[in-house]
Amino acid sequence: MDLLTVTGVVAGYSAADQILKGLDFTVRDGEIVCIVGPNGAGKSTLLKVIFGLLRPEAGTVLLRDRSIAGLRPREITALGVAYVPQEHNIFASMTVRENLEMGGYADRAGVSGRLDGVMQRFPVLGRKRRQAARTLSGGERQILAMGMALMVQPAILLLDEPSAGLSPLAAQGLFRDIQAINREGVAIALVEQNANEALEISDRAYILVDGRNSRDGDARALAADPEIRRIFLGG
Ligand SMILES: Nc1ncnc2c1ncn2[C@@H]1O[C@H](COP(=O)(O)OP(=O)(O)OP(=O)(O)O)[C@@H](O)[C@H]1O
Ligand SMILES: [Mg+2]
Repeated sequence: MDLLTVTGVVAGYSAADQILKGLDFTVRDGEIVCIVGPNGAGKSTLLKVIFGLLRPEAGTVLLRDRSIAGLRPREITALGVAYVPQEHNIFASMTVRENLEMGGYADRAGVSGRLDGVMQRFPVLGRKRRQAARTLSGGERQILAMGMALMVQPAILLLDEPSAGLSPLAAQGLFRDIQAINREGVAIALVEQNANEALEISDRAYILVDGRNSRDGDARALAADPEIRRIFLGG
């Protein structure tokens, strides 16, 4: 069943400049759906529209059957959508534990139970709970950012380039964590530059070019497509 349905979305940062030019995007229950495309294609902009940081000029955004376009991020969070931005996604001077508490701020009841759950899910966060977030490695910071998002027990998690800047080994670990979160029942929309690795863990994928849908379909089929390999995956 469709969990998130974006249809014909037009959006931009000013009236004169459309970035998304009529975009379609769907995430079904249980799926990992990856979004790839060149720099500036509008991948982050799409996630911002879904999370309510940017109001679409046209088109619809449905969560199940409910329109969420135009709602505020905090209202969208309460409906089960969590978002990890591409940058500035943790509070560096706060401890790991305080960061997780901030993640759960939108729904304060039961924060301590959920805190325990997230620290069990990611033992490194439990071990380092008293350390300032700035002392974490790049990979650990991304895990913390995901942990913060999971504090609201979302139905869908929007991840914007979680593996950016990580070593290949750390990225591999992160992709395994994303798969594990997904197996626990959270649908995932994943924007990634590491397209090969992302397609490997995804069910379906969308290729965006200049604010429009270029190709979409089964992730493995797209990863094996010679034209896509040539243009987007480095041969
Ligand atoms: N806050 C903003 N104000 C004005 N223009 C913006 C803003 N953020 C992004 N843009 C523009 O919107 C376009 C799409 O940006 P977006 O961040 O969605 O691309 P992206 O596909 O995520 O790229 P990348 O792979 O580099 O992260 C770009 O031309 C960018 O310059
Ligand atoms: Mg981006």
